[in-house]
Amino acid sequence: MNVHDSEKMLGILHGQGYARAESPEGADLIIFNTCAIREKAEQKFYSQLGRTKMLKRRRNEVKIAVAGCVAQETKERLFGRAPYVDFIVGPQNIHLIAETIGGERRTALLDDNRELASTEVAARRGSEIKAWVSIMFGCNNFCSYCIVPLTRGREVSRPSSAIIAEIRSLSEKGYKEVTLLGQNVNSYCSDITFPQLLRRIDALGIERIRFVTSHPRDLSDELIRAVAELPHVCEHIHLPIQSGSREILSRMNRGYTYEEYMVKIEKIRSEVPHVSITADVIAGFPGETSRDHEETLRALRAIGYDGIFAFKYSPRKGTKAAEMDDRISDEEKSLRLGEILKLQEEITLRKNRALEGTVQEILVEGPSDTDGTLLMGRTRTNKIVTVAGDGYVQGSFVQVFIEQARHHSLSGKPLPC
Ligand code: 5AD
Ligand code: SF4
Repeated sequence: MNVHDSEKMLGILHGQGYARAESPEGADLIIFNTCAIREKAEQKFYSQLGRTKMLKRRRNEVKIAVAGCVAQETKERLFGRAPYVDFIVGPQNIHLIAETIGGERRTALLDDNRELASTEVAARRGSEIKAWVSIMFGCNNFCSYCIVPLTRGREVSRPSSAIIAEIRSLSEKGYKEVTLLGQNVNSYCSDITFPQLLRRIDALGIERIRFVTSHPRDLSDELIRAVAELPHVCEHIHLPIQSGSREILSRMNRGYTYEEYMVKIEKIRSEVPHVSITADVIAGFPGETSRDHEETLRALRAIGYDGIFAFKYSPRKGTKAAEMDDRISDEEKSLRLGEILKLQEEITLRKNRALEGTVQEILVEGPSDTDGTLLMGRTRTNKIVTVAGDGYVQGSFVQVFIEQARHHSLSGKPLPC
């Protein structure tokens, strides 16, 4: 979401005559687009911000802006902590970035701003093949550990007509894939529902449609049917479980039990053949006993995700969980996280191995990060595949015979067309 917010700010500023600088040293304006989801992200920002102090000392005319969730959370106090910061703009006001940096020094735009959803912004995207497309902003869920509702505000959906117009234009420009973005896409609410929106987008003909993130409580039968039926909607669902323990899920205020979650998983698997399912998991939530942790491990074994993102719980000021006792030591959190990751590595490898000897369609994205002589693409199920790269251009679809599975990717041979 933050990457796409940056693309939007870049688009707006481009319209004002700015161009992207190659390095902070050569820039007239430096924008930090910050994330506050965990303490680590915040620390990274502060250490990078500290480095710009020297830049500002050398060239006082350089403008420094701080955007995103740390800006929203810290508010004007950030000017006190880092007096060389010129502007602050919260995530609900990024469409006003030009006005912010055109204003007086020490301007802060931090109001709740629902206009964001009805303001059209021409993003300057980093890819010419795959595009992020916002469909809604904010979150009404208040999971007890999460800072997002406090920084991004209440849910507001973008009009379906604007979303459809944007995707039609991306398709005309040659984009092959869109990922619809929202904190909880299932509660998209405009003149149509989220599954109806998917149907309209599918009819536009863009080859691949993805979406993140689905909240398990709100994942409807209608949505599962849409994923099963619509040819362009990819067979991949990211469905964060967070924990396998009933008690912890309740204290997280997630609104479902492990059993209810499992019913959805079974439904997805029975209706969408070859679907891949991924999730987020938090290790060491306050009060998590070793038994709760075992229940998470048991859930991972039972569900058999294609992949997960797992994190150590990080207390966030202002959230309910930050007030809860029974904090787990950092060492214990690391141990639990390590066990979760190790177990999932084995499961992912087993899942990937099952694809050896099959043929998968990939969308070629470009040279592989690990070996520039190879090309990298993704399957519809979002698995990374590398292939020897002669004669295939970025944005093409290639049928690949999968020869080898690894922990985080597959490799294979392209089939002759
Ligand atoms: N600590 C650790 N992980 C968190 N997440 C959100 N808030 C926290 C936190 N305070 C994780 C959740 C969410 C993902 C985007 O980040 O797993 O699904
Ligand atoms: Fe945070 Fe929960 Fe909203 Fe996701 S659904 S953004 S975890 S409050």
